[in-house]
Amino acid sequence: MKNTVLITGASGGVGFETAKLFYENGWGVYGTSTSDKGIERISSEFPDSTNFKLDLKSKESIDNLVTYLGEIDVLVNNAAVKSKGSIGDLTYEGINEVIKANLSGQIYLTKKIVDGMKGKGGRIINVSSIFGLISPEDFALYSGTKYGLRGFSKGLMRDLLKENILVSTIYPGGINTRFHEKERPEYLDPKDVADAIYYIASRPKGVLVSELTIVSDKEKRIP
Ligand SMILES: NC(=O)c1ccc[n+]([C@@H]2O[C@H](COP(=O)([O-])OP(=O)(O)OC[C@H]3O[C@@H](n4cnc5c(N)ncnc54)[C@H](OP(=O)(O)O)[C@@H]3O)[C@@H](O)[C@H]2O)c1
Repeated sequence: MKNTVLITGASGGVGFETAKLFYENGWGVYGTSTSDKGIERISSEFPDSTNFKLDLKSKESIDNLVTYLGEIDVLVNNAAVKSKGSIGDLTYEGINEVIKANLSGQIYLTKKIVDGMKGKGGRIINVSSIFGLISPEDFALYSGTKYGLRGFSKGLMRDLLKENILVSTIYPGGINTRFHEKERPEYLDPKDVADAIYYIASRPKGVLVSELTIVSDKEKRIP
């Protein structure tokens, strides 16, 4: 039977390249996007993949996804939204949207996937950021969610060792994706981050990569 991976946010950027790599290596791929257009893109590029609309801000959307999933060997918590600006620009609703998409939705999805992994083991790979290790100006909220994901991920790693569920955290520097308003050729290629994720997922049974930081050599904020 094929190994299976669930990748959130697989319609573009890191998630798309990660789905591609797993797909090309014969894994059963489950991908998500918030839009029909995104689902169409994943399904047309990876014909045997199974794809779902998912909004991490919605408990109902997460519950629905988990209902229709088969067995998952690896969960890649990749999806997230960017938030940039000063605290004066934030609203209560806006703050909660970012926290739900980047942290509480991911924690709840992870809980549901872990429930299904118990007894057989698996891997969880959480995509944080170098902004989960250093907190630069103008990114306080985004950074807060990425530090939060780091704390959750490290704690979960310890909690789940006894269940043979290996939890890893990855901290990429800038990546040239639609996260940015313009092309960023000096940043990492999303394929480089996908490679790192696949490396973690494909370690032999019993081998844990607890943390991995990956940056372009032109990165200005190497932690
Ligand atoms: N780009 C960077 O410089 C950088 C640096 C360090 C870390 N990261 C992290 O790398 C990961 C991938 O980012 P990326 O650069 O590849 O950006 P991206 O191309 O914008 O991908 C983000 C993905 O997240 C999905 N998403 C957004 N809101 C969501 C929600 N509420 N529920 C479910 N999915 C949602 C998007 O879905 P749709 O398909 O609907 O668009 C999209 O597929 C993120 O965790 C990001 O924080 C990025």
